[in-house]
Amino acid sequence: MSIKKHIRKIAKFILSSQPEKRVEVNVAQINYNEILKGKNIVITGGSRGLGYYMARKFISEGANVIVSGRNEETLKKSSKELGVNCSYVVYDVINISESKSFLEKCMKMFKGKIDCLVCNAGVSLHENIYKNVSENGFDLQFNTNFKANYFLAKEYLEMKSKEKNVDASLLFISSETGNQCYDIPYGMTKAALNSLTRALSRREYKNGIRINAIAPGVTLTDMTSDYADAKDGNLYRNCASDRIFLPEEIAEVACFLLSDASKCISGEIIHCNAGNHLNPFWDEDIE
Ligand SMILES: NC(=O)c1ccc[n+]([C@@H]2O[C@H](COP(=O)([O-])OP(=O)(O)OC[C@H]3O[C@@H](n4cnc5c(N)ncnc54)[C@H](OP(=O)(O)O)[C@@H]3O)[C@@H](O)[C@H]2O)c1
Repeated sequence: MSIKKHIRKIAKFILSSQPEKRVEVNVAQINYNEILKGKNIVITGGSRGLGYYMARKFISEGANVIVSGRNEETLKKSSKELGVNCSYVVYDVINISESKSFLEKCMKMFKGKIDCLVCNAGVSLHENIYKNVSENGFDLQFNTNFKANYFLAKEYLEMKSKEKNVDASLLFISSETGNQCYDIPYGMTKAALNSLTRALSRREYKNGIRINAIAPGVTLTDMTSDYADAKDGNLYRNCASDRIFLPEEIAEVACFLLSDASKCISGEIIHCNAGNHLNPFWDEDIE
């Protein structure tokens, strides 16, 4: 930053006597009137965070939802809160050999087809720099965020290939980090997911399956509680868009992508980060 800019910044600070920036967000929720009516949707990692808010939105739009995760207590509590159209299955996505039986169980519980699968379960170890990455941490993140999704998606597509008149959707929850240079595993797992999304879409759209990904920016969940603290309602974060995102906002986009309103969209990575991943030539101005 130039000296002039520093001076301007200090003068602005003194004159306005504002100690910090403040960003508040009102989530605009569109009620489409049951845009997901009758759809059976499975969400991995649906007990908390983004998965929970997606489940809540999908149910409010008429869907039946199964949430999965490792912790039964959390799943029980969440599915009770989400109401009669929500059930849960305890399933650790790392157990790839059980992915087929997991999907079959969900299908039985729905007493019908799984119309949409949301591969959402994920972990981030926030190592910050490659020097802090351990082999175990590397494996945990790749196994959970990429390998598990890869094989669960494979199983789901296999299941769908045996059905007639397929009209289905597969949604990966990626991250804006998948679009940036990354030397720690998390972003690399998401970059791999983005590639998978595009490639699978090219193969499967003609078979009636739309495959997309959502790439959120830093969103207020347990995953980011170490550095995205907005207890006082201030969603400010020092990034291009000046803000943290809310899980409810991401859920709105996911709802649209699973609905018939987005039938012509497949193979897309929809960034939900107000353009933070874009790198314009004036980026050095960002304070
Ligand atoms: N929050 C963000 O800023 C952000 C930004 C971009 C992308 N994302 C992505 O969004 C997805 C959800 O993240 P979140 O922020 O909602 O995280 P979160 O609040 O930590 O919740 C993670 C969810 O995944 C489940 N989970 C974790 N490991 C699992 C496993 N091995 N098997 C089954 N379920 C598992 C957890 O349930 P149990 O603990 O019960 O298993 C929980 O329901 C992740 O893929 C994440 O990478 C998040």
